[in-house]
Amino acid sequence: MPAAEGQKPDISVNLCGIALSNPTVLASGILGISKEMLRRVAECGAGAATIKSVTLEPREGHNNPTVIAFEAGMLNAVGYSNPGVDEAVGEFQGIGELPIPIFASAVGTEAEEFAQVAARLMPCGFAALEIPLSCPHTPGYGILAGHGTPEATERITRAVRSVTDRPLFVKLSPNVPAIGEVALAALEGGADGISAVNTLGPGMIINVETREPVLDFKMGGVSGPALRPVAVRCVYDVAGALRRAKKRAPIIGIGGVACGRDAMEMIMAGATAVGVGTAVYERGIEVFRRIGDELRDLCGRLGIESLGEVRGAVLD
Ligand SMILES: Cc1cc2nc3c(=O)[nH]c(=O)nc-3n(C[C@H](O)[C@H](O)[C@H](O)COP(=O)(O)O)c2cc1C
Repeated sequence: MPAAEGQKPDISVNLCGIALSNPTVLASGILGISKEMLRRVAECGAGAATIKSVTLEPREGHNNPTVIAFEAGMLNAVGYSNPGVDEAVGEFQGIGELPIPIFASAVGTEAEEFAQVAARLMPCGFAALEIPLSCPHTPGYGILAGHGTPEATERITRAVRSVTDRPLFVKLSPNVPAIGEVALAALEGGADGISAVNTLGPGMIINVETREPVLDFKMGGVSGPALRPVAVRCVYDVAGALRRAKKRAPIIGIGGVACGRDAMEMIMAGATAVGVGTAVYERGIEVFRRIGDELRDLCGRLGIESLGEVRGAVLD
């Protein structure tokens, strides 16, 4: 039997003063579209959860098909479909009542728009805010809008910082030459933590019968197991850059985490918490409790009493 919550080994973590009973965080864009869905995620053992990213105006996103599974994960080009900030504020009002911390996700086309969305969302009662500067497949946003550079990262982060006192996480792309520099720019702009990473690519999957790409947008971000080694290296690079710059900021390691061993790998690379996205499709919504149980069992087997003992263990 796996150890029960509250028992040794202790897998609780602290993210900028926010207490999580275990390090799993629902990643943005997966299930986080309503308060009721987030409640389910909480019941299924997540330590925290992130809402699907919200834009100022409603967006339809890309046409279907927007998501395809393949042997090593998923390719998606959802394109930030969402009902816009007005409807999101109605949906998430009083979100602080849920039994786990819920993180907002605000996105925009330029710094001012990010700040506007964030300013509208945060009074709902979110515990923290994440801003993705890293979508690889939505024109006008993220990488396709140049938000992945250190300069843009610092500028956008600073604009958002001015509208909220809550912990601010900046979500970075793996598709940059020096992710550590981008992370330091985010901290320079006032971020409290780093979410690493968003999807990789974009990649393409072709239907050889029809001789066409499967996704309507032709290409999409790669997530799941194919992303995991890249994401672990990104967390390692960010943690190393922070350490060399003598800065302390928690990292949420995101990308292909599907089991307790994967979570441990992220933590050893320097993560405090782990995002879980694609694995929800693979293992079901119970994945959070399962990862927590597996992580406790692994800690027990490796003689680890608390995650702080091994956080960043592979860093020099
Ligand atoms: C279908 C889908 C939709 C996503 N939508 C968002 C989103 O709205 N905002 C965001 O920041 N990331 C979004 N992501 C990226 C995930 O939050 C996560 O960073 C990425 O999938 C890697 O984690 P995973 O391998 O555990 O899925 C999305 C991913 C998928 C698969």
